[in-house]
Amino acid sequence: MAHLLGIRIQNYRSLKDLTLGRIGYGKGQPLPPIMCFIGPNGSGKSSLLDSFAFMADCLAEGVEAACDKPHRGGFSRLRTQSSTEPIKFEIYFKQRTQSRPITYAFEIEESNGVPIVVSERLQQRRKGQKHGRPFSFVNLNHGKGEVWSGQSTDREEGNEKHEVSLDDPGRLGITSLGQFKEHERILGLRAYMENWYLSYFVPDAARQLPIAGAQKHLNRSGDNLGNVIQYLQRSHPDRFQTILEKISKRIPGIQTIGFHKSEDNRILLRFNERGYTDPFYQQSMSDGTLKMFAYLLLLEDPEPHSFIGIEEPENGLYHKLLEQLAREFRRHAEQSANKTQLLITTHSPYFVDALKPDQVWLLEKDDNGETQARRTADIPTIEALKAEGIPLGSLWYSNHFEERFRG
Ligand SMILES: Nc1ncnc2c1ncn2[C@@H]1O[C@H](COP(=O)(O)OP(=O)(O)O)[C@@H](O)[C@H]1O
Ligand SMILES: [Mg+2]
Repeated sequence: MAHLLGIRIQNYRSLKDLTLGRIGYGKGQPLPPIMCFIGPNGSGKSSLLDSFAFMADCLAEGVEAACDKPHRGGFSRLRTQSSTEPIKFEIYFKQRTQSRPITYAFEIEESNGVPIVVSERLQQRRKGQKHGRPFSFVNLNHGKGEVWSGQSTDREEGNEKHEVSLDDPGRLGITSLGQFKEHERILGLRAYMENWYLSYFVPDAARQLPIAGAQKHLNRSGDNLGNVIQYLQRSHPDRFQTILEKISKRIPGIQTIGFHKSEDNRILLRFNERGYTDPFYQQSMSDGTLKMFAYLLLLEDPEPHSFIGIEEPENGLYHKLLEQLAREFRRHAEQSANKTQLLITTHSPYFVDALKPDQVWLLEKDDNGETQARRTADIPTIEALKAEGIPLGSLWYSNHFEERFRG
């Protein structure tokens, strides 16, 4: 599955110019399968996570709808206050382990009060090309430009260059171009981004028992947990049983998890807890258990997401459970390399304890109010202290990640 190697975000809220990982065949360590962002309030953690959601919304609904989501409040609120430049994104990713990486970049500007896509570019090196500039196979300005079909910018392989002129300035070109078989790479990019999942799990929402039938994937708040269970039970009955057994082993205090179909066809999750003969249903389960269940279910999805972003999973979780969850996340991300990539924001040292210095970034605002990021692996002394056996979260808690950007 596709893997994000790096990202550059410019002029998105406090992210005036933030680069993470490796971009555009450049230097820098590629992003790991699990990455965690810590930092004070207002340092830009939510903005970072939201920038992924924003890109996905741009693709799904167009840039105006993406800017106007209630929590975003329109283009002028989103663009970094001190900037007059477009909002810019650049992602660098690999479709498969063996594929040549692709850069996808686009810019959004406001024109007569309406946000539009001002430019869009996709680049990749040619087969066998080890050095030098990658070739653009999509190059659009204000919806007009050139697109190469196929898998390379090589006529010898039967690929062709087409002139294109898109009719909706508020839509990304990959939205329409990514529907055609001859644009395999664009199709791949579109499928990759459509598969991103950004969660803000609300345990209360997950206690509901919606009737609306089977749904493939958990939504942002988790209020369709019951529907997802229903889908899994119906479409992957064997797998579903294994998933329940696997998950029940990973939640402390839980012996088995089963389900019960009510007369009106709703799925009730049945948790058998140690010490009790009678089972509990999801309405009476604790926030922590439900949360743990939902996250583990996400990881066990038969059609896993390429990318999952989670905000502050610690809310409502006992610290030992949180440590366990962090270990599960890490194990999953590292074992199934190139499957799901995880991005998590947290305030909890317990979560960070389970991670390595090259998986954790510290976000801080500099004197200009702009978000800066530092990988904890790049802080001198951290690796050495970690090697002495002090967990990373404890180093953070005991002030070893001294703040650098503030005067
Ligand atoms: N358009 C903007 N320009 C500059 N800064 C902004 C803009 N919009 C929001 N901010 C600032 O971005 C900061 C980051 O907030 P947020 O991402 O919620 O941080 P965190 O999640 O780390 O607490 C806030 O201090 C907010 O004032
Ligand atoms: Mg936040």
